[in-house]
Amino acid sequence: MLQGWIGGDGVFKIDLPDAQATHGLGDRLGQCCSPGIVLLLSGDLGSGKTTLVQGIGTGLGIAEPITSPTFTLVNEYLEGRIPLYHVDLYRLDPAQVSSLELESYWDATEIAPGLLAIEWSERMLEAPRSAIRLRLESLPSGGRRATLTAVQADQIALLEKVIGDGLLVDEV
Ligand SMILES: Nc1ncnc2c1ncn2[C@@H]1O[C@H](COP(=O)(O)OP(=O)(O)O)[C@@H](O)[C@H]1O
Ligand SMILES: [Mg+2]
Repeated sequence: MLQGWIGGDGVFKIDLPDAQATHGLGDRLGQCCSPGIVLLLSGDLGSGKTTLVQGIGTGLGIAEPITSPTFTLVNEYLEGRIPLYHVDLYRLDPAQVSSLELESYWDATEIAPGLLAIEWSERMLEAPRSAIRLRLESLPSGGRRATLTAVQADQIALLEKVIGDGLLVDEV
């Protein structure tokens, strides 16, 4: 079971002791999210962003292996409960990111709405207000800490559902 802390203002912290826990958090996100969710992933190289997206794939019921889109920039998986669009901006500078026109994924006028997961989202100059931010940091123990931030009430409710019974209310 995932165990997380809610610190108020839509900030959730979850400790992930091993890669399986990172995968498990992704799995829960994949199970719970509705079409149109934008997930902005950040964290150093090797912090577990791709592992998390692989878990999302499992949660959405995608059988095809999810590989890092570092060279392809965007990978699209259409076989699951909702489409998964997996983006990696590692090799791009902000001007190149603008020219990718990622808005077409959240405007969803031409593309079927799905879950848009963006690695190295730090490289983006603008993002929708409804986006969920997920930062991964290494812990001295060797595990990771995920900090999830949502602004809108429906996204906060989604994160509460993702963490479910493991949610602890931080009194501080
Ligand atoms: N919570 C965790 N604790 C320890 N190792 C982890 C954790 N989550 C992922 N890893 C490991 O970290 C390594 C890098 O993960 P990866 O998902 O490729 O990172 P990124 O996409 O952020 O560069 C992998 O070997 C993965 O198994
Ligand atoms: Mg990666």
